[in-house]
Amino acid sequence: AILPGLTAWRRRKHEQSTVDDWRYQVTWTPLPALPLATLSGTWLVVTAEGEGRTGQGDTGDDVVVALRAHGARVRRVALDESCLDRAVLASRLADAVETDEVDGVDEAGGIAGFVSLLAAAEEPCRAYPELAAGTALGVALVQALADTGAEAPLWCLTRGAVSTGRSDRVTRPVQAQTLGVGWTAALEHPRFYGGAVDLPETLDERGGQRLAAILAGAGTGAGTETTGGEDQLALRTSGVLARRVVRAPAGDREPRRTWEPRGTVLVTGGTGTLGPHVARWLARQGAERIVLVSRRGMAAPGAAELVDELAGQGTEATVTACDITDREALAALLDRLTAEGHSPRTVIHAAAVIELHTLAETDMAAFARVMHAKVAGARNLDELLADAELDAFVLFSSVAGMWGSGQHAAYVAGNAYLAALAANRRARGLTATSVHWGIWANELGIGRVAPDQVRRSGLEFMDAGLALTGMRRAMDDDETVLAIADVDWDRYYPVFGSVRPTPL
Ligand SMILES: NC(=O)c1ccc[n+]([C@@H]2O[C@H](COP(=O)([O-])OP(=O)(O)OC[C@H]3O[C@@H](n4cnc5c(N)ncnc54)[C@H](OP(=O)(O)O)[C@@H]3O)[C@@H](O)[C@H]2O)c1
Repeated sequence: AILPGLTAWRRRKHEQSTVDDWRYQVTWTPLPALPLATLSGTWLVVTAEGEGRTGQGDTGDDVVVALRAHGARVRRVALDESCLDRAVLASRLADAVETDEVDGVDEAGGIAGFVSLLAAAEEPCRAYPELAAGTALGVALVQALADTGAEAPLWCLTRGAVSTGRSDRVTRPVQAQTLGVGWTAALEHPRFYGGAVDLPETLDERGGQRLAAILAGAGTGAGTETTGGEDQLALRTSGVLARRVVRAPAGDREPRRTWEPRGTVLVTGGTGTLGPHVARWLARQGAERIVLVSRRGMAAPGAAELVDELAGQGTEATVTACDITDREALAALLDRLTAEGHSPRTVIHAAAVIELHTLAETDMAAFARVMHAKVAGARNLDELLADAELDAFVLFSSVAGMWGSGQHAAYVAGNAYLAALAANRRARGLTATSVHWGIWANELGIGRVAPDQVRRSGLEFMDAGLALTGMRRAMDDDETVLAIADVDWDRYYPVFGSVRPTPL
């Protein structure tokens, strides 16, 4: 009797150490104080036209003041929605580049760099209400710069999009979409993509100095000389911090709690590829009731069989057709569940529309389509369940939404938003866990990415059971943002970093 017990213990230990190797988190490391620097040349500051900006400085005035104070000549370009058409935007940029007058001085010539404050336009785009105006214009900006063969670096500025530590809150998760667009641009357009800086709410003199110091070293390619090639930065009162993805083993640490699948578990995307595996796993964890949601509902292939299978495991499962991007439809579903005494205690948001496009190739409609289920679905769940008593609010994201991936433009931006939303919920005192998956077992990823291509990239397929063991641990620890990915870095980084040696 001892031997089987020992074998099971050994297997569990082995599984735990395997999954431990798959865990990654984001940290921020302070950079040494940057030297005072003077900017030279003309900088084009790009903003979005329109009302609805919140917070001081979101018009970019403080940035313009800072750039000028440190020697830059500044031209401002305000984009309206006609600029969603990359050709219109390209010609708007060409006009701005060719203008001779800068700051009242005759100044023909080239542009030293582009500074985009588009992220601040968080309001919905009129033409594509699924997208924030700034996100959409940001995509068009990268496209237009690529189309016009831009050489000068593009720097994207956000505010409240990242948390560099416990007391630093994500206040504007929507702006993290811009960071996601930037990660893709870094891989697909290394020639002109400079990097991103998350600014404090207001840019004081010290902050302005630091921003100037970052941009002063900007050449073409990754980051700037002054920051040692760092291209993902946060500017805080303490100084300048650079983003890092680090291993995050749980080791022998005791979990913070024991999550239980009490009451009802709501799984969006429940009839997709991963959803049924999650549902079976929930049943194995002892879930009483699972509500699986997708647009097709019971019409999704295998839905009826899955319900029967779960019933055989002692779990009452229902499959409901609901488009979670439709706030009213989702509210009606949640009201019905509450009326039945089944309001969810755990939410797992795995709904997604997954299409892979490069930034240059994507059209705005496709970009919006991919963002919609992830972003609007998460936002609707967040808002409608704001007062609910939840044990877990798990968002299914991807490593693409933690450190980027070429050819995944909208997917990266949507997943980056999920991480930021999780951090923002934490800042509001609510539970949230954004799990950034690597790729699940071969048969589960079928159809989208060729297995050989995945292996060559250095991502290893993860066994579903082990992946879910990793998720369980993240839920027991009530983690906020965690990647669970089997990465062979010796193969992954040379491919990932080949176009641009970005520090990860
Ligand atoms: N598979 C992987 O290896 C992998 C790796 C990394 C991350 N992930 C993440 O894990 C999640 C699940 O991935 P998957 O591979 O299972 O994707 P999938 O097979 O494409 O399934 C997505 C599911 O979402 C549903 N859905 C889409 N739009 C919806 C909407 N508006 N309202 C309600 N349901 C909607 C789909 O059903 P209908 O079409 O019927 O609505 C489907 O059930 C995604 O967030 C993905 O990014 C997966």
